[in-house]
Amino acid sequence: MSQSLINVAYIGATVLFILALSGLSKQETARRGNLFGMIGMAIALIVTAIGVVTANYSLLIGALLIGACVGLLLAKKVAMTQMPELVAILHSLVGLAAVLVGFANFLSHSSDFHGVEKTIHDVETYIGILIGAMTFSGSVVAYLKLSGKWGGKPLLLPARHWLNLILLVLAIYFGIEFVTQASIGEGLNPLIFMTIIALLFGIHMVAAIGGADMPVVVSMLNSYSGWAAAALGFMLSNDLLIVIGALVGSSGAILSYIMCRAMNRNFLSVIAGGFGNTAPKSSSESPQIEGEVTATTVEEVTEALKQAKEVMIIPGYGMAVAQAQHMVSDISKSLRSKNINVRFGIHPVAGRMPGHMNVLLAEAKVPYDIVFEMEEINDDFADVDVSIVIGANDIVNPAAKEVPDSPIAGMPVLEPWLGKTTIVLKRGMAAGYAGVENPLFYKENTRMLFGDAKESLENIFKNIS
Ligand code: TAP
Repeated sequence: MSQSLINVAYIGATVLFILALSGLSKQETARRGNLFGMIGMAIALIVTAIGVVTANYSLLIGALLIGACVGLLLAKKVAMTQMPELVAILHSLVGLAAVLVGFANFLSHSSDFHGVEKTIHDVETYIGILIGAMTFSGSVVAYLKLSGKWGGKPLLLPARHWLNLILLVLAIYFGIEFVTQASIGEGLNPLIFMTIIALLFGIHMVAAIGGADMPVVVSMLNSYSGWAAAALGFMLSNDLLIVIGALVGSSGAILSYIMCRAMNRNFLSVIAGGFGNTAPKSSSESPQIEGEVTATTVEEVTEALKQAKEVMIIPGYGMAVAQAQHMVSDISKSLRSKNINVRFGIHPVAGRMPGHMNVLLAEAKVPYDIVFEMEEINDDFADVDVSIVIGANDIVNPAAKEVPDSPIAGMPVLEPWLGKTTIVLKRGMAAGYAGVENPLFYKENTRMLFGDAKESLENIFKNIS
């Protein structure tokens, strides 16, 4: 395949990736965005396999087959609630690839370069391995944390910021040693030492982050994996990999920033760790919550809904666990057919991954025009007759506004308590992801409908229709 044909195909794939990203930014165009991304990736893979690779086809086909089988198996097996873990572990593979390619490239091609070219090549290799190793170990810890195999409590070592600084200084020191090396043998040691430092830094960075801040870390690792891929592109002189890496790196960084804003977290503080402690405070430490929990029944909820003019539905992680989205959709249809105005209020970090609720509601065919973002809807609660909170907890916790030393203090939340009645569907009084008690459940105008969200909604639906 001629070089100009490869270039044209790569440009085409790049345009498709840009269209994919812009499509994914809106619910209405997300499906199309995904399709563009898939076509772009297929073009990139085929052109690289046919046009760029010139030898070792059996190895390439073997690796592609193994990768495709593992990918298919994971995609089929993974439950929607395990997506963040899957994303984290996939990021770790990008990091690992950058480390392995970096070492292979250094060992086999270093003697091909001289003078300034050699310095540039060494810097590319060093930075690529550094980002790759951090991404790899950080993503593995993120996977362990998200899957509950590593506690959600942040690991706060004494003088941890100094420790990070020392690791950074050592990485720079070994970087200088590496770039000024005279032979491959001399360069290998600083490269190995830096890799160990970067692996430790990745572990420490993610271990120091509390449960409530994990979503930001996952999207930050997504960004790192993009930069690691871009570094791979430089090492392999592959323009498409550089562009795709930069697209993933910058969109991940923008998403991290948006999420930090949604949770009222300072990005640098999240990275430095120690925020969002998931450990529930002991009852002697936490402020006493006033009021009593009032349980309700399916009949009472049905009656309240039939009497309402304005209904707000607030889905959270529990809706995903119960797989109640189809029932929610049926109920909203039924209420709308009775001329009741039904809207959905979506918190940017509801569930366990960005857009989690939007995906589920789209799957259940809830019309996009009744689904609103938190900032679009939060001022409207005063006019709402009934808010139904379905398996949500942290995202409707008034402690974020009212308790200054709460682990979620300052995080913007949906405010159903400002409406007439709030009905909360959950199984018991368990805390949410951040491990914080929720005063909403004790408010005078809150009613708790205990039970699995899907079962409760099925019973409500039977009574309504
Ligand atoms: P959470 O605060 O985690 O609360 C979910 C609630 O659902 C739990 O209190 C649980 O109470 C209830 N629940 C679980 N299974 C249920 C079922 N089958 N039926 C009914 N209720 C059920 O969820 P949220 O309000 O959506 O907040 C999201 C949290 O996750 C935030 O802290 C956020 O920072 C964090 N997080 C978000 C992301 C992203 S990007 N969205 C990623 C990782 C973490 P019971 O056990 O009593 O039923």
